[in-house]
Amino acid sequence: MVDSTQILLLGLVAALGYMTYHGLRRDPREPTFLPSKIPVVGHALGMLWNGLPYWGRMANENTGFPIFTLDMFFMKVYVISSTEIVRLIQRNDKTVSFDPLLNISTVNFSGIKNKRTLHLMLDKQSGGEGLNAEIMHAMTPTLIGEHLDRMNSIMMRTVERSISALEKSTDFDLYRWLRNIVTAASTEATYGPKNPYKDPEIVDAFWDFEYNLNSLLPNFLPWLTARKAYNGRGKVARAIYEYLEQNGIEGASELERVRYTKSMEREISHEDFAQLEVPMLIGLVSNTVPALFWALFELYSQPELLDEIREEIKQNALSVSENGTYRVDITAIKERCPLTLSTYQEILRWRTTTTPTRMVVKDTILSDQYLLKEGSFVSMPGSTLGRRPDVWGESAGVFNPRRFMKPDPSKDESRKNERRRTGGFMPFGISPIICPGRHFASSEVLGISAMMIIRYDLDPAGGVWKAPSTDTMSMVSIMGAVKGEFPVSIRTRQEYQGTKWGFHCEEGKGQFTLAVG
Ligand code: HEM
Ligand SMILES: *[C@@H]1O[C@H](CO)[C@@H](O)[C@H](O)[C@H]1NC(C)=O
Ligand SMILES: *[C@@H]1O[C@H](CO)[C@@H](O)[C@H](O)[C@H]1NC(C)=O
Ligand SMILES: *[C@@H]1O[C@H](CO)[C@@H](O)[C@H](O)[C@H]1NC(C)=O
Repeated sequence: MVDSTQILLLGLVAALGYMTYHGLRRDPREPTFLPSKIPVVGHALGMLWNGLPYWGRMANENTGFPIFTLDMFFMKVYVISSTEIVRLIQRNDKTVSFDPLLNISTVNFSGIKNKRTLHLMLDKQSGGEGLNAEIMHAMTPTLIGEHLDRMNSIMMRTVERSISALEKSTDFDLYRWLRNIVTAASTEATYGPKNPYKDPEIVDAFWDFEYNLNSLLPNFLPWLTARKAYNGRGKVARAIYEYLEQNGIEGASELERVRYTKSMEREISHEDFAQLEVPMLIGLVSNTVPALFWALFELYSQPELLDEIREEIKQNALSVSENGTYRVDITAIKERCPLTLSTYQEILRWRTTTTPTRMVVKDTILSDQYLLKEGSFVSMPGSTLGRRPDVWGESAGVFNPRRFMKPDPSKDESRKNERRRTGGFMPFGISPIICPGRHFASSEVLGISAMMIIRYDLDPAGGVWKAPSTDTMSMVSIMGAVKGEFPVSIRTRQEYQGTKWGFHCEEGKGQFTLAVG
């Protein structure tokens, strides 16, 4: 749920002693070692300086190698830029595994101290009982079908109120506003009527934790070295503890009940469960907020595309009921608005910074050719794999809102020769680790964006849509989390002044068939 990749950033430093010893050993059967300009520590410095995008950059500069090794001094990373090799990694998911990385979430982000809890949560390959992975997998069925319907309906009610409240606004910080509505909607849907995040102080405490997550990694005297994150985490955990004591779980989503039940079956204390819940919210909001931001950014900054999409939604997904209430139908967007749906996927492809990462838990040989050594990491940079011309055609490097529409060869000569393969679409991960929250997230992003663009005009402060800088060091957002504010001014569009609004999503139809890698 935490993008595994970015976690490694500071882990580099922590793993120094152990990894140096192993890192210096090279086996001729390992993928080609790429030399660095500065000997020995060059790659490690490149990474500390540039963050995770460094791996993607190396992959882009060395496309001659389908897989290569970066000796990062503290650790070894095999970087992959070929979809064929990605497939081999997917097939070897027992020895090249995601699960060991979950330990970081338990130990460093939750700050769990109890030895028994730590042992329960730790993955089986590392000698634990694998409860963390078990809980993750148990969440998948709770995010589809009727459970998803229920979460969607709470989410829609919550955001509709906030979007309508904008009628009284003129200038506001778009990024912060999105952050707040996504947090409110996702937590109401997850925790139910006694949602501990109803209190704005708890929401702020969570974002203090999230923004300063890196500082918690070393887990060394965190109350001193990571004050903000540590205090934020403590405050949220206490609120969740109160929620548990008041039996808030009774009104919670299936998602939350499953997490709770699985933990209680193993007799994890309420204190520890509350602590483990804090980073869990990262998965629910840390990518949805920037995904939604970039959706609005791309739409409002491209007036022609905006007009087309407004028209498509108006024609196919907007209705007026007898009492005069306007209704945005999310199911109809999914089923009858091909341009909107395609644009959404292209925005994800365009803006994702994902780099799925795995740990080699046992020496593994890929196609009798490449040796991957135990204790090393594998990285599959989406910035490279998601933009390869051999996968995406000649237009790989441009933003094409129609890319994911079914081509109509009679109308669209130019696209006849364009290959359409989904192998490189990684914003929601690659199997077997695919984001189970993608249906909920997609309804959220599409529903909110649709209602926003239909009802309002937005202008950025300064009048020019200039992409704000993103936090490349963020360990948890793979959608380009924005650094700082993004002030905008807003106007209700003439034809919708003084109107009442609602959302609709047909029951049993909450799932999206999106491209996955
Ligand atoms: C646009 C928003 C989102 C994006 C782009 C996104 C992306 C991802 C990605 C790429 C992974 C795989 C991580 C890896 O391979 O390293 C993942 C995993 C996960 N996501 Fe999401 N996610 C989003 C929203 C959500 C939401 C709203 C939820 C929950 C309601 C959620 C729950 C999870 C969980 C539980 C996992 C772990 C799956 C496992 O370990 O089997 N995500 N997500
Ligand atoms: C997490 O914290 C432990 C100490 O509790 C530390 O040994 C380890 O290196 C940390 N992990 C990372 C990835 O920094
Ligand atoms: C997981 O965390 C525990 C507690 O800090 C540590 O002892 C163990 O070595 C870690 N395991 C892995 C595989 O990182
Ligand atoms: C208007 O009608 C719709 C359904 O037709 C209903 O969901 C909504 O609550 C009604 N709104 C008001 C203000 O009566």
